[in-house]
Amino acid sequence: MKLADYKATLSFSNGKAPIEMPVYNGTIGPDVVDIRKLYGQTGMFTYDPGFLSTAACQSAITYIDGDKGELLYRGYPIEQLATQCDFMETCHLLLYGELPNAQKKKDFTHLVTHHTMVHEQMQFFLRGFRRDAHPMAVLTGLIGGLSAFYHDSTDINNPEHREISAIRLIAKLPTLVSMAYKYSIGQPFLYPKNDLSYSGNFLRMMFGNPCEDYVVNPVLERAMDRIFVLHADHEQNASTSTVRLCGSSGTNPFAAIAAGVACLWGPAHGGANEACLNMLQELQAAGGVAKVGEFMTQVKDKNSTVKLMGFGHRVYKNYDPRAKLMQETCDEVLKELGLENDPLFKLAKALEKIALEDDYFVTKKLYPNVDFYSGIVQRAIGIPVNMFTGIFALARTVGWIAQLNEMISDPEYKIGRPRQLFTGAVKRDVPPIAKR
Ligand code: CMC
Repeated sequence: MKLADYKATLSFSNGKAPIEMPVYNGTIGPDVVDIRKLYGQTGMFTYDPGFLSTAACQSAITYIDGDKGELLYRGYPIEQLATQCDFMETCHLLLYGELPNAQKKKDFTHLVTHHTMVHEQMQFFLRGFRRDAHPMAVLTGLIGGLSAFYHDSTDINNPEHREISAIRLIAKLPTLVSMAYKYSIGQPFLYPKNDLSYSGNFLRMMFGNPCEDYVVNPVLERAMDRIFVLHADHEQNASTSTVRLCGSSGTNPFAAIAAGVACLWGPAHGGANEACLNMLQELQAAGGVAKVGEFMTQVKDKNSTVKLMGFGHRVYKNYDPRAKLMQETCDEVLKELGLENDPLFKLAKALEKIALEDDYFVTKKLYPNVDFYSGIVQRAIGIPVNMFTGIFALARTVGWIAQLNEMISDPEYKIGRPRQLFTGAVKRDVPPIAKR
């Protein structure tokens, strides 16, 4: 963070003296006004619900230019990472700041691969859930539960603990997600298989069974890997900020990541892929492409709560670059599986075309986001709709940990403590119960 060669002055129309505040430059993106001394100097807070103009931290991990539709992990464009690197390389990049060379990639992959098994007792913990529980409810519990099983890596202030918990979380999430799925359908859990890639192993644990060999389809393996790369990090979104805020109290990494998973579940965030596919299925059942016009009228109606799920983003005011890459993967997967005429894909394309030309979406700068096509890809692979957000959590885990570890290593880090504008009752006396 570099001090800018100018300052910001805040003046007041009520005769209060103006104050000067330092401004910092990042390497790219908007400058920030440092308001940390504002309260001390003026007795006033800033008001910014939803963090529309507030940078809550400095970070060197991920950068989004929402107007351009650009996403960089450690400076590398997502388009290059998605087409030239795999998820293990992406994890290394996010965690350590650089892409690995061949040897480092081998070592890192070996390390992750050899932490994929979970404590045998985790399955008894899992068996305590109802079989029809939502996988995100199960995952929030299982991931929080990791802190009860891995006591030796829970000290967030110890760099070695942070390192080992990071590897454990990245390695074990595919195992836990697939266990949650197998449990829900009553099939036996499959142990990880170390000669498979991260994505190949996940596909096998999801769709294999102990009675026969599972042959990994390379197109689906690549698609899964791309889903992981595209979801790996997305700077200070709601779940990442939750992880940071939760971790700022000094809690252990497993608890902080569980908080992130809980936040991700919401339909305005990671739950959007599930909500998007449900929307497409409902629209298909109601008449499909022929009903798109009617549906769009509802979406645009100010008095309705219907939204075009998979569209719009707080930061992207242009096409989400991940959506383009996901659409490519969608084409590849549907072709591989002979599903080119998939009615939901056709419906999604029709919705996208109409929305991109519609004045409502154009003026509000609402474009497809990553979730618009990711559900179609996952459904084609055979992943049930209620597992989609769990897959997102699996992929985002590395981003959450990288951000958490960055925060803990930042000398300026403090426990997060937002302030408020109080609008409630002023001090009053409790009346006796008979007079209330
Ligand atoms: N369909 C219809 N109208 C929309 C949509 C949509 N998908 N998204 C935004 N709008 C309207 C919104 O009603 C508002 O209109 P007005 O100005 O008349 O009040 C305007 O566009 C601005 O929207 P906003 O809700 O104030 O914007 P936000 O930045 O607070 O919310 C969002 C962003 C992603 C929550 C929202 O666009 C949304 O709910 N989209 C659908 C859910 C979705 O796809 N979420 C996935 C996000 S990407 C994955 C991730 O990062 O988790």
